[in-house]
Formats: sequence, C-alpha cells, structure tokens
Amino acid sequence: MAPLILKPSAPAHGGAAVAREDGKVWLVNYALPGEVVEAEPRGRQGGVAVAAATRVIEASPHRVAAPCPYFGACGGCQLQHAAYAHQLELKRQVVEDAWARAGLRLPPDTAVLGMEDAWRYRIRGEFEAVSEADGWRFGFHRLRSHSVLPIDGCLIHDERIERALPAFAAAANEQRLTGLQNLLLTVEPTGPGLMWRLRFTGPEPSWPRDEFARRVAELLPDLTLLDDAMSLEFWGMTFRIRSDTFVQTNYRQMLVLYRAALDMLQARSGERVLDLYAGIGTISAAVARAGASVTAVEENPHAVQLGRLNARINSARVEYVPGKVEASLRGVRLGHFQAAILDPPRAGCEPAALAELIRLGLERLVYVSCEPSTHARDLVSLVRGGYRVRRAAIVDMFPQTYHIESLALLERS
Ligand SMILES: C[S@@+](CC[C@H](N)C(=O)[O-])C[C@H]1O[C@@H](n2cnc3c(N)ncnc32)[C@H](O)[C@@H]1O
Repeated sequence: MAPLILKPSAPAHGGAAVAREDGKVWLVNYALPGEVVEAEPRGRQGGVAVAAATRVIEASPHRVAAPCPYFGACGGCQLQHAAYAHQLELKRQVVEDAWARAGLRLPPDTAVLGMEDAWRYRIRGEFEAVSEADGWRFGFHRLRSHSVLPIDGCLIHDERIERALPAFAAAANEQRLTGLQNLLLTVEPTGPGLMWRLRFTGPEPSWPRDEFARRVAELLPDLTLLDDAMSLEFWGMTFRIRSDTFVQTNYRQMLVLYRAALDMLQARSGERVLDLYAGIGTISAAVARAGASVTAVEENPHAVQLGRLNARINSARVEYVPGKVEASLRGVRLGHFQAAILDPPRAGCEPAALAELIRLGLERLVYVSCEPSTHARDLVSLVRGGYRVRRAAIVDMFPQTYHIESLALLERS
C-alpha cells in the first residue's frame, strides 16, 4: 500500500496539526503546520481520523529535535518537536480559532506570555506505578493508552521530583509493597519540602507507612518529606497546600498569571470582590492586599479549610463561602460586589453560574481558564448578557504540552 503523505496546514487543540487530503480531515500528531510528512493512521478521535507522523519529508523551519527520549511514546508532552517561540504562536492560533468558532474576535493586542526557560517548571506530578520484572517503577500513561511507560526522568518536572521517583520505588521494593496505583509528589518551590501521597488500587491496605517514609527520607537527605501539608510562598505571603487541593503546577508562571489577572482586575481599596472557584485562596489574598474585601467561593471542603487558614496567616480580608458557585451566587444581593475573578476547571462555568453573574451585573469580570473552547463558549454567554471583552492574554503555564491558559477582562457595556 502507498504510504500516507499528509500536508498539515493549521494547528489543532490537542497538539496535532490538521491536514486535508482528498476531502478527508486528519489530525496529525508530531507534525507541524507547513510540513509534508509520511504518516501512519492511528484510529479516530471525536469522529476525526488520527495519524502520527513517522517521517518528515519537508520540515518546518520551526522544527527542533525533541530533547526527551520518551517523546512520542509518553502521553505527557505533545509539542517538544516545535521551537518554543513557535509553540507560543501555535497556542495563540488555537485560542484565536476557538474564539472565532464561538463568534468572538481575540483582541489583536493579546499578549502571549511565555517562559524564559521552558523546562523543569512543574512543582507537582502524578506518576503511575508499574510492576516490572525488577520491581516497582513509576511513569506516565502512554499516548492515548492506559498502559504505563516507566520513566527515569522528566524534563518538565522540578529536578527534585525526578530524583525522588527511584527513591520511592526502591523503598516500595525493599518493603515488598503490593497493589500500588500512583504517587503524587509536590515540591516546595522556595523550600526543601517534598509532599507525597501513595495510592493503592482498591482500599488502602495496612502497610508500614512510617518505616517506608523513613527509608525514603534516608534516600533523599536534602529534602524534607511531608505527608500532610506544605508551604507555597509568593509576594511575601505564605499559603498551606495539601495533596488533595488544587495547586498551579507551574509556580514561575503562576506569578505571571496572577500579575496579569490582577492588572486586569484593578481592584480598588474599599471594593468588594468575588473570587469564584477560589481553591486555597491564593488569588483572594493577593486581591485583598490591594485593599479590597474578598468573598471566595469554593466547593472542595479541604480547600475551604486551608483557604480560611491562609487568610488568617496572611491577615487578608477574605471570607469563604463553601459550596458550588452556581448555587452560592443565588443568595448574593444586587450591587453588593463590584468585580469578580473566576478560574473554573476545564469544563468551564455551569449555565446557572453565568446566569447569576449576568444578573449581578458586576462592573468587571476577569475570567481565567485552562480550556480555550469552554472559555470562548462562556465569554459569548457573558457578551450576550451585556459584557464586552476589553482585553485578553495567554499565559503559557504548560510548555511542551498542548495545554493552554488564557484570561479575559470583561466590562459591562
Ligand atoms: C482551576 S482551580 C482554581 C484555583 C485557584 N483560583 C488557584 O489559582 O489556585 C478550580 C477550583 O474550582 C473548584 N471548583 C470546581 N467546580 C466548582 C464549582 N462548581 N463551584 C465551586 N468551586 C468549584 C475546584 O475545587 C478548584 O479548587
């Protein structure tokens, strides 16, 4: 059979490039727009044919050699074959397309804020356990598969996390642990703490936890092993976080994201501001420092508990309302708040949450999102409800991967 030759012309969300061949649409992984590649069909995804580039016939000037030996097999990174500046350009195009499909124009002056050093940025990683002939190893799911690829290193994680993996595997092997599922590691960006959580398939058996932790600590003498909570510090503030609460995985870019969000929000002294989907209250405390009083809404009870503690630690005027945003906003009086910042998970906002925001008629909304399609969808609802998009920005929180973080300032028109 003749090899499949494809000429992708545009980026797609997910890291692939879109090619059209004889009226058929292909999503081509590991190819860049403008290239000619030989490709192998790899099934279908969301009704579209998928292929993987196996040989580059005409390379893009933006193609680089991927530095990671697992690239192509591991499901973690999709864009290591693109020069970093080009990754940022591809992400801008993906956001522009998502907005255009929803009927919105991405403001032409939208900044794309990338990293100076786009490696070793993750302070949190979740690694799957796999039992090999020589014992336990940790790794990632293979691309679009449930099977696990054991790894010895990962260039997008903090080097201390990479070093910790064999220590945890060695301790698990020495203690003959069985039924491991995964390991969640988070390092303190400005301290020696390494927070860990080991999960088992099924209910946790009784196991020598303390002995295990002692052994890992012996193997990692420069790190402080933490099994309950750790500290996150920025801008002179300190926050407690835990394994079961959300944390921005890219600490360096978290600061860029928060700065961009606060610049858009322009909270004034004496204002009342809502922080929706607030997590442990990092943004809330930063907004409160500008003199505003903040009401944080969050559904995860562990995050609410830490958020209240974090507000006290930082003497921040932040009050927590536990519960879902869509339900909590119902009780809010018109005119009580002047502005809101919202940072929902990938699924975006429930229609009821958007309807409540429109009812409240706040002057300014800053909507932070980690999924361009739901961001664009929700922004359109807000525009229909009487808002105008004033500014937008893209902050690259996830270099080498397809994930995109964007934010927009809306004002009541
Ligand atoms: C992307 S995180 C944002 C956290 C925070 N803004 C930060 O920067 O650390 C989303 C948060 O929304 C919470 N959440 C998800 N759905 C929610 C809902 N319907 N109502 C309230 N909180 C929700 C999650 O528990 C999580 O803490």
